[in-house]
Amino acid sequence: MIHPVPATQVAGTLEVVTVTDPLPRPTDPPLACSIDALSMSLQMRDPYTRFHCDRVGTMCEQLGRYCDLDATDLSHLALAARFHDIGKIGIPDNVLLHPARLDDDQRAIMRTHPERGERIFAATGRADAQAVARLIRGHHEAYDGSGYPDGLRGSDIPLAARVLTVVDAWDAMTSERPYRDAMERSRVMFLLEDASGGMIDPQVLGAFQHLLRREPGLG
Ligand SMILES: [Fe+2]
Repeated sequence: MIHPVPATQVAGTLEVVTVTDPLPRPTDPPLACSIDALSMSLQMRDPYTRFHCDRVGTMCEQLGRYCDLDATDLSHLALAARFHDIGKIGIPDNVLLHPARLDDDQRAIMRTHPERGERIFAATGRADAQAVARLIRGHHEAYDGSGYPDGLRGSDIPLAARVLTVVDAWDAMTSERPYRDAMERSRVMFLLEDASGGMIDPQVLGAFQHLLRREPGLG
């Protein structure tokens, strides 16, 4: 679509110029592309986080199905899982890429990423944007109310967000990081059991353990 730009002053005279409209045209590909662009942005910023999100997305779909989420909740979970850490795009390099454990000030900055992610995903304008953004905001809530940003407790946290919390923790601990090796699966499961009823919903953890026994190659 071509349209005139309001008067532009050139060499002391007023001249009207035309430019190509940068807004999407009816023939442009659908919104799916903006989702892919979000993923690519995250990968360029921090490849580890992009691939962590992709793995968590795959596992969440399976665990969500195992927890009897309906088709709508499952589709929201799949997207929220894939973009749960998208808010890290807004975290400064000296925190996001810090090659060691974070100090208290750095951790406080990092803890803003669920709210940043909520805002980014809500801005996609998708019909499901608010529902997905709510799960992104909730992925660091804890079953006992000790999580953030809202300190929600138990069933006040959407089930899909509780599923995401378990898978996120599993993948983070079984992955290699610059400041530590990947942890053994048995050790990670011990730590998740230790967090059951605290950070982790015990019923979701039970479902995850059943799922891993049935499909040991999943994680
Ligand atoms: Fe996160």
